[in-house]
Amino acid sequence: MAAQPQPKRIEEILRRYPLAVSVVTVGRGGAENALTVSWASPVSFDPPHLMIAVDRLHHSVSFLRSTRNFALNLLRAEDRRLAGHFARQSMLGEDKLEGLRTREATTGAAVFDDALAWFDCEMVDALEVGDHVVFIGRVVDADVGREGAPLLTTDAGVAYGKSRA
Ligand SMILES: Cc1cc2nc3c(=O)[nH]c(=O)nc-3n(C[C@H](O)[C@H](O)[C@H](O)COP(=O)(O)O)c2cc1C
Repeated sequence: MAAQPQPKRIEEILRRYPLAVSVVTVGRGGAENALTVSWASPVSFDPPHLMIAVDRLHHSVSFLRSTRNFALNLLRAEDRRLAGHFARQSMLGEDKLEGLRTREATTGAAVFDDALAWFDCEMVDALEVGDHVVFIGRVVDADVGREGAPLLTTDAGVAYGKSRA
């Protein structure tokens, strides 16, 4: 029987998986937290649902569990700086959204005026899978922002891995 690849090797191979990069905002009445996410996908048309996978050690997990809502903002190729900005753990009292053009969507989560598209979601389920928690959200509102090409994890210098998280 062939040797199984080690988890570290699988993590390296996973980096070849082309995924869109988004910023997920969490909270009602002004985002309480925001983080860069690439492990995200639509999972149902009718009714529309999305999923996001968040490392169970990330601060955002407790926010997501308590507020039970999130908005997913798809980034454009020129938003690489934002991907880095929202991949930093928030500092106490810091407003990560300062300077960005945002507004409050139906659930109270912040959506970006300049996103390629955004989806505002009420959480309906949370499933623990290995070291991540998969949050399923029902899409209650969505819109397009600015036209452009998407930012992808296969673009140079944009990746998600344990070594960076
Ligand atoms: C391109 C990119 C994609 C990322 N995708 C994810 C992801 O899908 N899930 C996740 O938990 N973290 C992901 N991260 C890491 C988080 O954005 C980062 O750890 C962030 O600081 C977590 O915020 P928090 O600790 O305030 O929750 C990604 C980072 C980058 C740069």
